[in-house]
Amino acid sequence: MSGQTFLTSWIQAQKLRAPQMKNASTFERNLEEALDLRRANHGLFAPGVINGWKTGQGVDFCSNDILHLGVTGQIREEFEAELARNPGYSLHAGGARLLDGNYEYIQQVEQEIADFHGAETALIVSGGYDANGTIFGALPRPGDAIIYDELVHASTHDGMVHSVAPCKQSFRHNDCDSFRETLTSIIDSQPMIRDGSRCVLVAVESVYSMDGDVCPLRELVDIGKELCPKGNIEFIVDEAHGTGIIGPKGAGLVKALGMEKEISVRLHTCGKALASIGAVILGSATVRSVLLNYARPIVFTTAPSFPMVASMRAGYNLLRSGATEKAQANIKHLVKRFIGIMRADETFQKAFEMGIIWIPLAEDIEDRDFLCHIVPIHLRQKYCYWLTFHLQLAGYCIFPIDYPIVPKGKSRLRLIVHGTNTEAHIDGLAKAICDFSREMIEIETSADSSSKLPKSAQHIYAQMAEARA
Ligand SMILES: Cc1ncc(COP(=O)(O)O)c(C=O)c1O
Repeated sequence: MSGQTFLTSWIQAQKLRAPQMKNASTFERNLEEALDLRRANHGLFAPGVINGWKTGQGVDFCSNDILHLGVTGQIREEFEAELARNPGYSLHAGGARLLDGNYEYIQQVEQEIADFHGAETALIVSGGYDANGTIFGALPRPGDAIIYDELVHASTHDGMVHSVAPCKQSFRHNDCDSFRETLTSIIDSQPMIRDGSRCVLVAVESVYSMDGDVCPLRELVDIGKELCPKGNIEFIVDEAHGTGIIGPKGAGLVKALGMEKEISVRLHTCGKALASIGAVILGSATVRSVLLNYARPIVFTTAPSFPMVASMRAGYNLLRSGATEKAQANIKHLVKRFIGIMRADETFQKAFEMGIIWIPLAEDIEDRDFLCHIVPIHLRQKYCYWLTFHLQLAGYCIFPIDYPIVPKGKSRLRLIVHGTNTEAHIDGLAKAICDFSREMIEIETSADSSSKLPKSAQHIYAQMAEARA
């Protein structure tokens, strides 16, 4: 599907429905009213229409198939080889993990994954969302406190809702001073944390999915050790976006920093860079046993089936064999190339100075210890969709990230660089962004700038008006 087709179907999806539903049931009308709230902000997406890159009509700068193990067929090939190595496999696990659902293959794969990451044990669960529900629903004990980075994923927030820990406080994103202040205030106000009989659990991510920046894990852990000398502080690191990208052979940030012994719980997901399915929770044998026995998403569900576990193993086989190293290196090379072009472009720099568009990574790339695949592009808020139109029409599949995924006023485009993207893709994308920047500079510096729209937005809004008429 081309950018134009995507935009047309997306425009059609924005047509308000509830006002025309006077004769419908209250239930249906109320639901459409909820959808209209999204439509009114041009924010309703219909599954299945946003995949121009899948048909080869657009360049993939958006999917979670980061290493392109899916696009290239590598994961399918490895998965089929894994099936062939295990003839007679069954599709069903046969029960919950603690009852009839355990089997030798899953235990073997778990141990392999644990070894790959340098962890004592691993526990396979159906996905990252469930994993966070599992972790935060089961591990905090009464009287424990949870401190979390303000930008942790929705699944961590939802998991914490089920936690018995009475005290949950956030700290400013990746801000060590704010972490220190929050931890100090918890220690001051909670006698059982102070005396070491209860724990502080710290929830962070290795790579933040909307900002693409990496957690200052070493610094946070050092602050934790300093302020909790009794050792009652533990870190839970969600490596969903670090898996396959950061660290030796993509083993993650914790492994890259050599902090395997200092981090109590890690979460790796397989639905992103590994192009498969499922997630794995790493920790001690005690952690694993508590999760198996107490976590409701494990106790009350059927165990992961063989095909799912085999797909995870296929992904890990590719990581372990070094088959993904070229793609990992290419991502870093292309991110540097993109930033280099944007920095050298005078038009982009002028637009940056005028506050039209900015790329945080372009301002401090030298200071970052790790480069990953996510490059957010910030703009004056109303320009976010305009740049999306411009890029989609130019054949680049890239999406705006809007409220409620990010806070109001913080919308941005999220560029995801992939394993088989090329220099030509990056150069073309950079040129398209610079062309858009030039157009916006001309508009902002012209008389009566408030009523002017860039060409791509004129085109799309005209279609939208037609669709709404
Ligand atoms: C940080 C983080 N944790 C967990 C998840 C959920 O992972 P999954 O898609 O495997 O459910 C995501 C998904 O976007 C994520 O970004």
